[in-house]
Amino acid sequence: MVARIIDGKVVSTDIKARVTKAVRELKENGVQPCLATVLVGDDPASTTYIRSKQSDAKEVGITTRDHRLAAEFKQDELLELVHSLNRDHEVHGVLVQLPLPKQIDEFEIIAALNPFKDVDGLTPYNSGMLQSGMGLLKPCTPSGIMELLHYYRIDVAGMDAVIVNRSNLVGKPLALMLLEQNATVIICHSKTKNLGEKLLNADLVVTAVGNRERFTLNAEMIKEGAIVIDVGTSRINNKLVGDADFESVKQKASWVTPVPGGVGLMTRVMLLKNTVTAASIAKEMSR
Ligand code: GUN
Repeated sequence: MVARIIDGKVVSTDIKARVTKAVRELKENGVQPCLATVLVGDDPASTTYIRSKQSDAKEVGITTRDHRLAAEFKQDELLELVHSLNRDHEVHGVLVQLPLPKQIDEFEIIAALNPFKDVDGLTPYNSGMLQSGMGLLKPCTPSGIMELLHYYRIDVAGMDAVIVNRSNLVGKPLALMLLEQNATVIICHSKTKNLGEKLLNADLVVTAVGNRERFTLNAEMIKEGAIVIDVGTSRINNKLVGDADFESVKQKASWVTPVPGGVGLMTRVMLLKNTVTAASIAKEMSR
């Protein structure tokens, strides 16, 4: 079997067009959607992510605030910034780039965010709503994966899904979303026993390791006809690659996402979609 490609470019372009239209409509109704990003320190990967989030937002007509803080920024100073963004009626979405430097208590910062501005869907309120199947602002990467599956009419009901990642940003929320769609889900991590066996049994494999030396998915590791969603990114000889050896996996999977051109584009566009949702919530709440 040669896999069909799940094209993040096609799906993200489609969603971007809808977001652009929604932004225009909000503006016509007197609401200018605005996203504030917060970056502490100068980690090169995080700096690149923030730059793309800022330019994506501008592209669809969302205005932005760009808070860049020194790596030594203190917990109480960051809390004060979050509180001031919570109070600011012109700001609809707040994204605090993770990871935060080690002097910062990440949970306390995230928990301080107004859940209706939490465009990452990470606050205790939004993760609780997601767990109850009532999430409105949901983490961008897993929501983007669900959009890809939906676009290509891939019904996960009854499938055995294996997720190689247990983070709050990807693995845990994705498990809830797949479960909501009636998949049977296993979350795997560095301490998982018999990962190989679990992968070989999976109808759907989602991998988000991001370290090709530690983990590379190839055709021998998956079942014939499996669906492979690749969230990982690494650089090999300065070339961006996923967790999967794409050419190998393609020969055995039924569907596969490329890297680049797959999930990454979806993460970016889902942030824009969440910002529009947050602006719409603010508009409803001010009536
Ligand atoms: N770091 C890596 N991915 C993400 C993301 O989606 N949101 C935030 N806030 N930080 C990240």
